Amino acid sequence: MLSFDFTGSNAHLPEPDRQRMLPRARAAHRALLQGTGAGPEWLGWRRLLAEPDDALLDQVEQVALEIRERADVLVCIGIGGSYLGADAVIQALTPAFPDAGRTPVVFAGHHLSTEYLAGLLEWLKGKSVYVNVISKSGTTLEPALAFRFIRAFMEETFEDADRRIIATTDAHHGALRTLASEKGYRTFTIPGDVGGRFSALTPVGLLPMAAAGIDIRTLFYGSVTMMRTLASEDDNPALEYAMRRWLLHEAGYTTEVLSVMDPRMTRMGAWWQQLFGESEGKNHQGLFPSVCTFTTDLHSVGQFIQEGRRTLIETFLTVESGSSTLRVPGDPADLDGLSYLEGRRMRDVNRAAFEGTLKAHIAGGVPVTHIGMPAVSAESIGQLMYFFEHAIAVMGYLLGVNPFDQPGVEAYKKEMFTALGKPC
Ligand code: PA5
Repeated sequence: MLSFDFTGSNAHLPEPDRQRMLPRARAAHRALLQGTGAGPEWLGWRRLLAEPDDALLDQVEQVALEIRERADVLVCIGIGGSYLGADAVIQALTPAFPDAGRTPVVFAGHHLSTEYLAGLLEWLKGKSVYVNVISKSGTTLEPALAFRFIRAFMEETFEDADRRIIATTDAHHGALRTLASEKGYRTFTIPGDVGGRFSALTPVGLLPMAAAGIDIRTLFYGSVTMMRTLASEDDNPALEYAMRRWLLHEAGYTTEVLSVMDPRMTRMGAWWQQLFGESEGKNHQGLFPSVCTFTTDLHSVGQFIQEGRRTLIETFLTVESGSSTLRVPGDPADLDGLSYLEGRRMRDVNRAAFEGTLKAHIAGGVPVTHIGMPAVSAESIGQLMYFFEHAIAVMGYLLGVNPFDQPGVEAYKKEMFTALGKPC
């Protein structure tokens, strides 16, 4: 299981404050479990873990197997909650360097760069391509535009284009559902009661992950295990995390930095950033979610975290074990002065960097939480994703906002569509 250490924020949160807050945090947690808080119609992300659909997991795995056998590449088209979960899990659980036995998954429709799209269309030529277009509404500009280009490419290139395109969308509504029915695409459904950023464990995330060769069943059941663990009000780390964040928010802290000690977890940070930012950033409240990869970013924003304006809280995410046994090699000349590390495991060097950074940041006045993952595994990632989902739902209720909507996202779209001359 994941481990949690909250003592790094004790100096900023006197015990009486925490005790005073506990009943309110428990009430927020109960509201989530009982569906009595804001947005009860969006609690499908918990329902699908309470009632696992193994037949659906089988179907996803079957289509993924076909993709792995027949495709040189899977292009996933989607944005926001329709791509970040898959992107995060694929980065965490597939090798960093190209692996001949694996179907690469590339993303499109997650921005509007013409250079990227043109480059992708060029690169796809001569390859056996499958496409998974993912959009609940089917009308989100970025994926819908990318799909126009990629659909045209598929129809020009492959006689069986309609078999190679798989749509993941709403069960009944939306432009993509209509198009999929007309073309006869195979489809997976995004449940109506699951919002985009909570949809990683639906086919939205599961199909691309399985196509990348990830064990989605273990991942899914990792989340189930964490949901069961977090059902209790006592010793509940999600409740503790949310409560401390809320108290620090009330004390004037403005930003949370998620500091990952393993670059495999960087995109998981991007998934967390959307989950937290869209869920709590409402009514002029919330902690701005920011992600750092250490030790890389200790050489960029480390200075700010240590000595800049004291409005940051920090959550460290570490990995406790792994398969690599790399040890620092000997060098009799010792010109780099590193022989004192000879024979030490690289893992232990990174651990020392974490422990040193943790101490330094605490001494610098940053309230710190530490989450430890036993390994970067499907099980741990599943646990972690549910942990964050549960915690931010509780935090939303503590802030008095609906954690499951995102009304502010419409503002930029309105201005953009006006600029583009979209007919009303
Ligand atoms: O979390 C959300 O709801 C958003 O990030 C959506 O997932 C994103 O805007 C994409 O929407 P759609 O799936 O309708 O294309």
